[in-house]
Amino acid sequence: MATTTAEREQWGSQLGFVLAAAGSAIGLGNIWRFPYLAGEGGGGAFVLIYLLCVGLIGMPYLYAELSLGRNSQRNPVGAIKSVTGSGSLWVLVGGFCVLAGFIILSYYSVVAGWAVGYAVKDVIAPSMGFEAFAASPWMVIGLLGVFLLLTFLVVAGGVEEGIERWAKILLPILFVLILLIIFRAVTLEGAMEGLAFYLVPDFDAITFDLVIAALGQAFFTLSLGMGAMITYGSYLPKQEDIALSGTYVVLFNTVIALMAGLMIFPAIFATGADPATGPALVFVVLPEVFAQMPLGGLVSVLFFLLLSIAALTSSISLLEVVVSYFVDEKQWSRQKAVWLIGAAVFLMAIPSALSQGAAGTFSDMSYLFGDGGLFGQNNFLGILDYLIGSAGLAVGAFFLSVFISWVWGADRAADEMEMGGSILSPGLLTAWTFMMRYVIPVVVFGIVMGYAFGIL
Ligand code: PFF
Repeated sequence: MATTTAEREQWGSQLGFVLAAAGSAIGLGNIWRFPYLAGEGGGGAFVLIYLLCVGLIGMPYLYAELSLGRNSQRNPVGAIKSVTGSGSLWVLVGGFCVLAGFIILSYYSVVAGWAVGYAVKDVIAPSMGFEAFAASPWMVIGLLGVFLLLTFLVVAGGVEEGIERWAKILLPILFVLILLIIFRAVTLEGAMEGLAFYLVPDFDAITFDLVIAALGQAFFTLSLGMGAMITYGSYLPKQEDIALSGTYVVLFNTVIALMAGLMIFPAIFATGADPATGPALVFVVLPEVFAQMPLGGLVSVLFFLLLSIAALTSSISLLEVVVSYFVDEKQWSRQKAVWLIGAAVFLMAIPSALSQGAAGTFSDMSYLFGDGGLFGQNNFLGILDYLIGSAGLAVGAFFLSVFISWVWGADRAADEMEMGGSILSPGLLTAWTFMMRYVIPVVVFGIVMGYAFGIL
């Protein structure tokens, strides 16, 4: 029998939920992906469009995932079944969410493992460049193992005692670390040029591709499109105000992304590095930047510690989606789910870990996809990130938004939001249901098409 509502674990407080959900949102997406996308997208222009996408599309859609989760008190599969029964094809969308959590966790942990390695690099591999580092099989697999183990230990502790408790400890540390690094970065000579690049939009740089990239980033950064927020919403007590809590999550997440840019761009411009380096920005360019600045050794350790912490509070939520599925639907104990799924994630992560030069089979997959790769990606990790972490989240968000708005019903979602009282006035709630029915599915469909045609 499925666990009943009364037995379901819950967050201990609104603050606890907000920090846990903000912890899910704040991750590699804010500190690694956002800065390099902004760097490639001309700086301020990307930041402006990103902010609009987060506020106008991401935030309203976040409320919807949270509402479905709290209403059903279930994981994504259970949440959909609670509306349609188990025979419906919609249940497959829930299945996709669980699978996406599993796959994203596998490669996300590889990048997170690099961050852990870079935090202690002076001890484990002082003079190694990034290429050699990422291509050392035992090093990357070992670091991946350490990172995953931390993730398992937190999730094994449960919702309140594990996830919420660690979010309350780790997020304040993360905040202080960012402040320290920003202070160092903006006091460098030449920092102002970096700030201008980052903050003053050049409207000519706004293109269709840039808008698609910004929208995709809005979903990734808010952990949307794969039911993480359905799962976290399912532990929300009925008296909490969903819109208010959700808005705090968006605000925290946005502040941290903006702060990440404030620490990275001044440092890059002050040392003459190239902001448009792409995914290697944080691991290749920043260490060079740190090496050139006073106190750089210390700043480097703090920065990669910060990145590891941010990644941990997100990987926890990825694992929780899969764990909650097995606990709710298959009646596994939390311990069994964490360790069995954990072992499977570790195995699944190995090809990604080896795909950055350690094993040719995974690093250059042109034998399968030709020289151009699959949508321009030629290694295992890149392919998974594109297929699941980028395009997959858009597809997931499209189906979930249609499901919530049209199958479950946007007005039922609005009722769920009103239950604990809502900061949204009745007029705003009506506007929200309109957005959910007519605007969000259409806009998200646009991103799906953008990916499908390989525009990115
Ligand atoms: N939001 C996380 C980040 O920005 O790094 C990534 C993420 C976590 C995506 C959880 C999806 C998810 F369900």
